[in-house]
Amino acid sequence: MTRALLREATARLAAAGVASPDHDAAELLAHVLGTTRSRLALVEDVTPEQREAYDALVTRRAAREPLQHLTGVAGFRYLELAVGPGVFVPRPETELLAGWGVERAQGLVAAGRVPVVVDLCTGSGAVALAVATEVPAAEVHAVELGEAAGEWAARNLQGSGVELRHGDMADAFGDLDGTVDVVLCNPPYIPLEAYESVAAEARDHDPHLALFSGDDGLDALRVVERVAARLLRPGGVLGVEHADVQGTSAPAVFSRAGRWSDVRDHPDLAGRPRYATARLAR
Ligand SMILES: C[S@@+](CC[C@H](N)C(=O)[O-])C[C@H]1O[C@@H](n2cnc3c(N)ncnc32)[C@H](O)[C@@H]1O
Repeated sequence: MTRALLREATARLAAAGVASPDHDAAELLAHVLGTTRSRLALVEDVTPEQREAYDALVTRRAAREPLQHLTGVAGFRYLELAVGPGVFVPRPETELLAGWGVERAQGLVAAGRVPVVVDLCTGSGAVALAVATEVPAAEVHAVELGEAAGEWAARNLQGSGVELRHGDMADAFGDLDGTVDVVLCNPPYIPLEAYESVAAEARDHDPHLALFSGDDGLDALRVVERVAARLLRPGGVLGVEHADVQGTSAPAVFSRAGRWSDVRDHPDLAGRPRYATARLAR
């Protein structure tokens, strides 16, 4: 029974240009049936109401609503975050930046320190929450400018111990100046002129404040450079995600500023340049 439903839904999603039609068809059916993708084959009965609910979700997905808006959750490392309209859906590639931050914080814990970590541009709170849950000894702060995104972050970070502030990263955390060990940021980084090339799911459903950042896509990253230099203690480290075409230009922002050492770039799992790291000179 589920096989026929899946076959039909997969064909509809493929025809609509959805990038992973079989995965999404199965994920939506599992969501409607209250099970997991791997257990779908065990389901023997699908009620007419469930069929109708599934059909409605497949129709919305075919109209290129993000899968995670339809299920209401996005997986990120060991977490499930609540997401929906108004907040950027966390992406798998950002798990690497978060993992780099987790390792830096764990290193400080091993050295007997309480790491102070700041997540600039927190969106749903994904990076901050990953650090807080994987390094419980860390003191984690996060900031978000978007109003709706800030509400999603507040929901996800509730009870986590992460301190969340609403506002512009440019002048956030003045009280932490010179004291932070690790700054992490997945800023907006798409050049404005690339608008047409952005997938419909992102362009029509992620907030534009989360996506676009000036003519070369590096406006926010230049702010991150200044803010991180203000927040970090000498020797503190920064990790910032960027677009795959910014593997040279993003690290160059740090090399040129003249106050960073150990500037390097890191690839994602597909081998594409994905995030830059640097250490504030002592
Ligand atoms: C690419 S999203 C990343 C969200 C989240 N960190 C993640 O990785 O899923 C960028 C986020 O930065 C926020 N943002 C943009 N400009 C900002 C600013 N000046 N200060 C604080 N947050 C900002 C956007 O609203 C958006 O939530």
